[in-house]
Amino acid sequence: MRSDQIRQGRLSGDRSGDIEHFLASMDADRWIAEADLLVDMAHLLGLRRQEIIDEAPARALMAALLDLHDHGLPEEAFDERFEDIHAGKEAYLIDRVGEDFGGRLHMGRSRNDEVATCIRIRLKEEIIGLVRSLTGLRTTLLDVASRHTGTVMPGFTHLQHAQPTTLAHYLLAYEQAFSRDTARLRDAYARVDVSPLGSAAFASTGFPLDRDYTARLLGFARPAANSMDAVAARDFALEVLSDAAVCMTTVSRLCEELVLWSTAFFGFVQLDDAYCSSSSIMPQKKNPDVAEIMRAKAGSVAGELTAAVTITKGLPMSYNRDLQELTVHLWRGMEAARQSIPLLAGMIGSATFTTERMAAEAGRGFATATELADVLVRDYGLPFRTAHRIVGRAVRHGSLDLATLEGAAREAAELSVVELGVTQERIDEVLDPRHAVAVRSIVGGPAPAAVAAQLAEQKELLARDVAWAEETEAALLCAFEDLILESRRLAV
Ligand code: ARG
Repeated sequence: MRSDQIRQGRLSGDRSGDIEHFLASMDADRWIAEADLLVDMAHLLGLRRQEIIDEAPARALMAALLDLHDHGLPEEAFDERFEDIHAGKEAYLIDRVGEDFGGRLHMGRSRNDEVATCIRIRLKEEIIGLVRSLTGLRTTLLDVASRHTGTVMPGFTHLQHAQPTTLAHYLLAYEQAFSRDTARLRDAYARVDVSPLGSAAFASTGFPLDRDYTARLLGFARPAANSMDAVAARDFALEVLSDAAVCMTTVSRLCEELVLWSTAFFGFVQLDDAYCSSSSIMPQKKNPDVAEIMRAKAGSVAGELTAAVTITKGLPMSYNRDLQELTVHLWRGMEAARQSIPLLAGMIGSATFTTERMAAEAGRGFATATELADVLVRDYGLPFRTAHRIVGRAVRHGSLDLATLEGAAREAAELSVVELGVTQERIDEVLDPRHAVAVRSIVGGPAPAAVAAQLAEQKELLARDVAWAEETEAALLCAFEDLILESRRLAV
């Protein structure tokens, strides 16, 4: 195949493989190679429709493009002497149909609008994929939660036993976060869904391109409104990468808990062996390696985001080659998130929660002390601060039985809880973790009925997100199918 056709005019001489390798984006371009063919087809259809290109070259070019679409791009198009797939593919086409025809595809176009269009196409697919994974994870969380609305466990603040809750309440807390991640991605999709094609280098073109037409062919909602913004902006990529990083932060917190919970100290969960590794020296070991790697991936995605933001921040208008480097971080970040989330769903779905251990820990560390203070307020009329002081003092003395509480009340508030009518029987009732959960029945609370309401609401939200992913994906596939059909019509 010929050498880099783009250098032949203005520049002279060969350059070393090191320089070529340094400049090339071929690895990252594998992500967009297929999308780039669709962009070529749409552009060519647009050129033909506006009669910017004659029928014969259009037909020959389209036949070659369809052949690449049907059989894949040859490896030679990814040769690093071409810097990127756009140039490699153009060289291949010129080789194939001759310069008189092949040299006409790039009319009214630049690699700047070409690559921005490719990235947006692929990113839309990535968003749909990630939303699908998230809905899968949320389905698992809701399923497991619905089986555990009565499973009492300790809740923690500062990682100290704090108050009893249920496993369902805990899992739904994570589901809420993943539901917001889904909403953020759906929201971002609308901003990714605009077509830069026709913006050329940045100033658009004097060729009478129909940008609405090519945007529609490629399944975009509309063309980008400003051609300079269209090639220069990557805020859409930063936004989606940031959504992925935020999501992975939650993934990491959940993984951290799976790691903690699977220790002998906690003993709250047993992960399926498939998600664990053993030790090369300690034969007894079962380590939660998948959760650990996933926790680390969250750090990597945050790193990709930091790199992408930092690459972008110093760039003047409009396109700068630095942007090529950003794309690498975008794909790496999206890939890490895309790999992690289905695995997390599998890990949780196959885990065994040790409900007896959770129940045994639910009331430990005086976890029901808040409820006792609340009862002193609700049933016996004490100010909350006074009740808080009495119960705190009793805990300091090491027990919440009636005698200790009575002593604490005299010390802390100069009153007698016995005289108030507090009995040991009432205390025992109040200190039961199940009681503490049952009375927390207001909106958002852990009581089974409140959790049932949360489950119902989240199932509805989930169904809407599932439908969005299905519809959006179907619309996109439909646009691509139409584009191929239209292209085949031109080629015959
Ligand atoms: N490989 C380039 C990128 O990813 C494509 C655009 C090149 N444009 C240019 N003016 N050199 O950004």
